[in-house]
Parts: sequence; structure tokens; C-alpha cells
Amino acid sequence: MTFTRGDRTEAWAALAGHYEAHGRDFDIREAFARDPGRFEALGFDAPGLYADLSKNRVDTATLHFLHDLAHECGVEARRDAMLRGDPINTTEGRAVLHTALRAPRGKGPFSHDVHQVLDAMLAYVEQVRDTAASGIRHVVNIGIGGSDLGPQMVIPALDAFVHPGITFHFVSNVDGHDIAPVLRRLKPSETLFVIASKTFTTQETMANAQVAKAWFEANGGTDIAKHFVATTTNVQAAAAFGITTTFGFWDWVGGRYSLWSAIGLPIALAIGGDHFRALLAGAHAMDRHFAETPAPKNLPLVLGLLDVWYRNFHGFTSRSVAPYHQGLRRFPAYLQQLEMESNGKRVDLDGELLPFGTSPVVWGEPGTNGQHAYFQMLHQGTDVIPVEFILVKHPTHGFSDLQTKLLANGLAQSQALMLGKTADEAATEKAPTASADLDRGVLSRHRSFPGNRPSTTFLIDQLNPHALGALIALYEHRVFVSGAIWGINSFDQWGVELGKALCNDLLPRLASGETKGLDGSTAGLLKRLRG
Ligand code: F6P
Repeated sequence: MTFTRGDRTEAWAALAGHYEAHGRDFDIREAFARDPGRFEALGFDAPGLYADLSKNRVDTATLHFLHDLAHECGVEARRDAMLRGDPINTTEGRAVLHTALRAPRGKGPFSHDVHQVLDAMLAYVEQVRDTAASGIRHVVNIGIGGSDLGPQMVIPALDAFVHPGITFHFVSNVDGHDIAPVLRRLKPSETLFVIASKTFTTQETMANAQVAKAWFEANGGTDIAKHFVATTTNVQAAAAFGITTTFGFWDWVGGRYSLWSAIGLPIALAIGGDHFRALLAGAHAMDRHFAETPAPKNLPLVLGLLDVWYRNFHGFTSRSVAPYHQGLRRFPAYLQQLEMESNGKRVDLDGELLPFGTSPVVWGEPGTNGQHAYFQMLHQGTDVIPVEFILVKHPTHGFSDLQTKLLANGLAQSQALMLGKTADEAATEKAPTASADLDRGVLSRHRSFPGNRPSTTFLIDQLNPHALGALIALYEHRVFVSGAIWGINSFDQWGVELGKALCNDLLPRLASGETKGLDGSTAGLLKRLRG
């Protein structure tokens, strides 16, 4: 099957022309004035959420060109190849089948294997969650990257569903400042360590697992088999470590797509088997939406196309995510790995250097906190940064006044980004904190906002497991779409290898002080670190 790289299509050239004619100066405010049906036309109902794309620099004509691009690139054929298990991760010769992990029993590739592990894992989960019998009060997940970020993001997001008698901890960094404060709070008899690593070779995870084991034994822990469990594709290595309870998964599950697999064990321990199955079902519903919804209303497809429009035609280099839900505080970090490890690539599938930009920088913080930090730049800085607001209608707390204020803030920010404020408008307003000595015209320019800054708003009814599963899968698929248009392999991560190899070279040098063959800076720093 052949796929065409975006810039080699006729649609790309047409989009470039469309950008010159209508895109560069596109004004969202004027678009609303021209088209009273704009909100409805650019609204998307998808599983678990509603997406308002109307505050973006697109109209139906732009979307038409973008859909032509997707079609010419063969995005739908590539999506189908992924879903049926073709080895689309060509540099590793692997299939990409995280969608199979959330398919119902009997559906999708490898269903028997997937459900066998899931059933066994959820049976184990019920035993541990019976805290009176298991004695477990603390679960420590030791893992990094995709073996950490998913559970670390999901558990606080679903806080209302979490077992009240178990505290969850996450240790990822090889910096001992990560594990030390966690261990201080634990007793071996009450603790379950989950050693999470797809490869079971990752330096940080193996080093922290050894520290945990040594701590466990030094503090009177006796039953490693009961207090250590592994989630990995490398069952032999886990056994060699001394772990007898292992939940496996497969090489066709990428690390950053693995929370649906055994890597999700801490999530299941936190929220229980039924809620874990609901998380999977929500993601599966989004998979169906992506696979079956016609292009014009296919939300992951449209979002991926919008990403290409902003990155390659408008030249925007970053995107900010603002979840207006404190439980989603790790969502931006989760998305950083998902998007930047997937699409931070500079050659296409044939190894040719790309003449255009790929992954944007993805970053953010929960609202309203971000408003009091970097939103200044979003409103008045020199760069245009599209923002994604995630608003949740029904909280799981009972503080309705806080909720109303939260939602008003979220809406106000997207409104302010779009509407802006002219210097003339600013001049008519009172500014009690402004200097009385300053020229009024100068002050008005300081107090004006350009507006026309794009944003997308996702509305979620309630942040429950089903809705969260759908939200995560939505982002997975939009990353797939932009990666497919760029003609890259979104499923490898060679960019992390060089640093790992150099670290292995430097480890003995830190002990010996040998600097032969090192560059001047590294040699100098190494000497100072040893001094
Ligand atoms: O270094 C990058 C990476 O390979 C990620 O892709 C992965 O999620 C992480 O390391 C952890 O790998 P593992 O699960 O094999 O320990």
C-alpha cells in the first residue's frame, strides 16, 4: 500500500493558495459576522464530548481543502491498515494495535490474548483492593515515560472513583529525590510495588526497582512474590528480578499508547475492574468514531488536519492545552509524550529529510492557574499559540460556586483570545492601576489585545472513566492523522537512543575521572562534578 506525503499532493498546493488568499488574514470575528450558523457548522459531537472548533482560523472552505489533503495522502487507508494490524511501524517492523486492547471480547486482532491478560489482571486487582484481606494500603508504580505517564495522569483525573483505602505513588526519575520521600512514608507489609517497563531494561526503572527491593528487605519485608508485581513484555527479565506475578503485553503496544494494557494495572487497582473496563469502552467508542464517521464530522481527523493547517501553513510552532479540571493536571505532560515522541521526527518513511515542520511543542497547565502565569503571553505575546480548553460540566464535588467561577473563567479566556481589544476601546476604559504620568495613547497600546487568537473548546459532561477514555483516544488518533499527512513513522522513538548510549559511556567515567575522547565542555563539567 502506498501513501503520499502531504507536500507532494495537489491539495497541499491548493491549500497554500487558499492560505495566501484567505488564510493569512482570516479573522475569526469577521467569520462569525458573515456566518450566523458558524457555531453549529464547526461543532462536533463525538463519544464522551462535544468539540467547538468555531473559534479557529478555518471555515468550511478551508476544511474542504484539508479533507482533500487527507484523501490524497491516503489517511483513511493508513488508518484501516493500523486497525487491522499491518506493520505500519516500519522501522521496527511492528504492528500498532493499541486499539485492539480496548476492543470488546471477540472483536479485533489478538482478542483472545488481550482478554486473557485483562481478565487475569482484573481478578488480581479485586484481591488487592480487598484491603482487609490483602493488607495493601500503598501502591508504588515504578516506571518512566509510557510506563508512568498514563497511570499518573489517569488516577488523579478519576479521583472520585479511586479506592479510598489505598494511596498511589509514582516513582519515575533516576534522581533519588523521587523515590526517597515515597519510601519514607511506607511500611513493607502494606506496600505493593508495580515494576512497569515494556522492555524491563530501562535504566531508571531497573535502578529504582533495585532500590525498592533493597529497602523492602532491609525493612523486614519477606514476601517479594506478594509485594512486587511486574507489567512488561519481557517476562523472563521480570522473573530474573525475582518477580513471580507478571502481567504481560506485546511489542505491538507502543509505550506511549500502553495505559490500556497491563501498564494500566495501577489504574485498575485505583478505580476497580468495572471502571477500568469503562475506560477501555470509552476509548473503543472513539476508535469506532474514528473508523466509521464520515470525514466531515470525524473529530480526530479534523483536529489532525487543523494541526497541519496551523503548523505548516500558518507556521504556528506550539499548542497549549488548558484543562479546566484540576484532576487533569498531568494531562499536558501525558500529551507531551504522546504527541512529541510520536511526531517529533525529521525524516519521512523513506528516510528523506522533510522540508516542513512536524510536531508542535505541546504544553500547558490546568486553568485557572495558567491564567495567572503564562496566559499573558497567549493574549499579548508576539507568537500566536492555539489553545485547547477542556471544560467539564458536572464536577464530582459539591462546591457549585467554585464550579461556576471555573467555567466562567474558561469561557472568558477563549472569548478574550478571539475578541481582543483595540487601543481605542482600551482608551475609553478606566485603568485605576495605570500610571497617571503616562501618555494615554501609549497606555492604550499596552492595554490592547490583538484578538483573533484561535482556540478549541472541548465540553465533557462528567469526567468519568468512559469520557476520559474517549478523550485520550481522541488525542491518540489526531496525532496519527497529522503524522500520516507528514508521511512520518509516528510509532518509533530513535531520538531517545543517543543520549542513552552516551550516558552508558559516561557512567564509568564519573567513577574513574577518565576524560579521554570527550568534548571540551563535557570533560570540564565532569572534572568539576568530581572535584
Ligand atoms: O526512552 C523512551 C522510552 O522508550 C519510551 O518510549 C517509553 O515509554 C519509556 O522509554 C519507558 O520504556 P519501558 O517501558 O521499556 O521502560
